[in-house]
Amino acid sequence: MGIAHEKLEKNIGVLALLTAIAVSIGGLAEIVPLMFQAEAIQPLPGVKPYPALELAGRDVYVREGCYNCHSQMIRTLRFETERYGHYSMAGESVYDRPFQWGSKRTGPDLARVGGRYSNDWHRVHLLNPRDVVPESNMPSFPWLERNTLDGGAVQSHMRALKRLGDPYTDAEIAAAPAAVEGKTELDALVAYLQGLGKHAPKGG
Ligand code: HEC
Repeated sequence: MGIAHEKLEKNIGVLALLTAIAVSIGGLAEIVPLMFQAEAIQPLPGVKPYPALELAGRDVYVREGCYNCHSQMIRTLRFETERYGHYSMAGESVYDRPFQWGSKRTGPDLARVGGRYSNDWHRVHLLNPRDVVPESNMPSFPWLERNTLDGGAVQSHMRALKRLGDPYTDAEIAAAPAAVEGKTELDALVAYLQGLGKHAPKGG
C-alpha cells in the first residue's frame, strides 16, 4: 500500500470527505442524465392523475402500510417479467406521490395486479385473505368496509396535487365529492388495485 493511501485510510476526516465526494460524483452521473430523459418524466400514453375514488384508495393503501409487504416495481429480469408482466417504466409512476415501488416482498408485486382478479375476489381477500387463499399470512382489513370516504378530503388532496403540477381539471375536482359519495374505503382500495398496471406496455 502506498504511503499516501495509508495516510488517507488512517485519517477518518479526510477519508469521509473523499468518500462523500466519490459517492456524489457517482450519484450525479446516474441521476443528472435521468432528469433530461423525456421518458422518465413524461407519463406513458393513457397514464392520468388518479380519479377521485382511486386516489382515495391509494391513500388507504399508504395508510395501511401495504407497501411493507408489497412492491410495485417489476425489475428487468426474466423471472420477474414472466411472473408479473412487462417491467415497470418510470412513465407509469409520474402521478405517484409518494411512489409505492417498495422493496419488501412478503406478498407478490402488485404493479400489474389490475384486472387479474374480480372486484368480489378483492373484497373477500381484503376482509379476510384466508377465505380465498387458505395459506395466506396477509392481515385482514375488516374496518375498510365500515369506513365511508370523506369527499371534502379527497377534493383537497386533488387540489394539492394540482398545485404540484398534476393536470386535474377544475371540473374533475368539483365532481370529486359526488364521485366518492357513499363509497367505503374498501370500494376505493379495490378501485385503486384494479387500476394498477392498466397502462403498462403489453408483453414481457
Ligand atoms: C404482512 C404482509 C402483508 C401486508 C401488510 C399486506 N399483504 Fe397483501 N399479500 C401478502 C401475502 C403473503 C400475499 C400472498 C397470499 C395471498 O394472496 O393472500 C398477499 C397477496 C395480496 C394480493 C394478491 C396478489 C396476487 O397477485 O395474487 C393483493 C391484491 C394484496 N395482497 C393486496 C394488499 C393490500 C391492498 C394490502 C394493504 C391493505 C396488503 N395486501 C397488505 C402479504 C401482505
